[in-house]
Amino acid sequence: MIKKCLFPAAGYGTRFLPATKAMPKEMLTVVNKPLIQYGVEEAMAAGMTGMAIVTGRGKRAIEDHFDISYELEQQIAGTSKEEQMKDIRHIIDSCTFSYTRQVEMKGLGHAILTGETLVGNEPFGVILADDYCVSEEDPVLLQMVKLYEKYQCSIVAIEEVPADQTYKYGVIGGNEEKPGVFRIQQMVEKPDPEDAPSNLAIIGRYILTPDIFDVLRETSPGRNGELQITDALMSQAEHGRVIGYQFKGQRFDCGSVEGFVEATNYCFENYYKNGK
Ligand code: UTP
Repeated sequence: MIKKCLFPAAGYGTRFLPATKAMPKEMLTVVNKPLIQYGVEEAMAAGMTGMAIVTGRGKRAIEDHFDISYELEQQIAGTSKEEQMKDIRHIIDSCTFSYTRQVEMKGLGHAILTGETLVGNEPFGVILADDYCVSEEDPVLLQMVKLYEKYQCSIVAIEEVPADQTYKYGVIGGNEEKPGVFRIQQMVEKPDPEDAPSNLAIIGRYILTPDIFDVLRETSPGRNGELQITDALMSQAEHGRVIGYQFKGQRFDCGSVEGFVEATNYCFENYYKNGK
């Protein structure tokens, strides 16, 4: 059983400046909840209760969000507003939160390695909270946990992107063993379309086996001098130990203004208006 979920949340969020100058990108709200709360709810739906968050300077609002606010609680006690706090109270009561700081932002792989101290020697989920995922079926991380039970190796969520967008993602190549399930043989970080092995891009949901930490320690910085998680995953893939999973659902890139607005409209129409 996978009990912990890692949230790398130390990035600068430069695509969303000036909003992210003093506020963490993960605290941007889609309708009335911050992105990271949706992420935590998705991890809980996948059976995880240990939330391990890699933060950085200027990210304290995340810790405060997942803590009791006594003054506020007292202020709204006995009023209808208590209802709006129900979900976050349930999260605080059901989960444990642990934090560590990434002191230098040396890339997603480095952020994940920084999280080792919180995760330990067990398989774990990873959610990049700025990728907001919705599904009519099981939540995306739960779909992946179910797949992990069968394959017992690292799993990355993938989706088709237009060929001219591959330069934004890690892109995979591999054998489709079952519809939507690929045994990964190749992974290229942010390739130009002519160098991309496919148009299947990795998005911000992973299940990782803990040997990834040793691999990350041995991995040299790649593109942009950053430690890339795709380079480390490639070492596991060489042993046939990475599955690419075309998840059922929809992803919004809330790290970009366009994706964020789309997510907001989607969430308002489909959930908020219906009281969900
Ligand atoms: P992004 O590529 O979205 O980078 O990182 P970013 O810095 O947050 O945003 P932009 O591109 O400048 O707008 C993907 C995920 O990895 C985390 C980010 O917080 C985000 O969740 N990350 C990235 C780290 O935690 N540390 C890093 O050094 C880099």
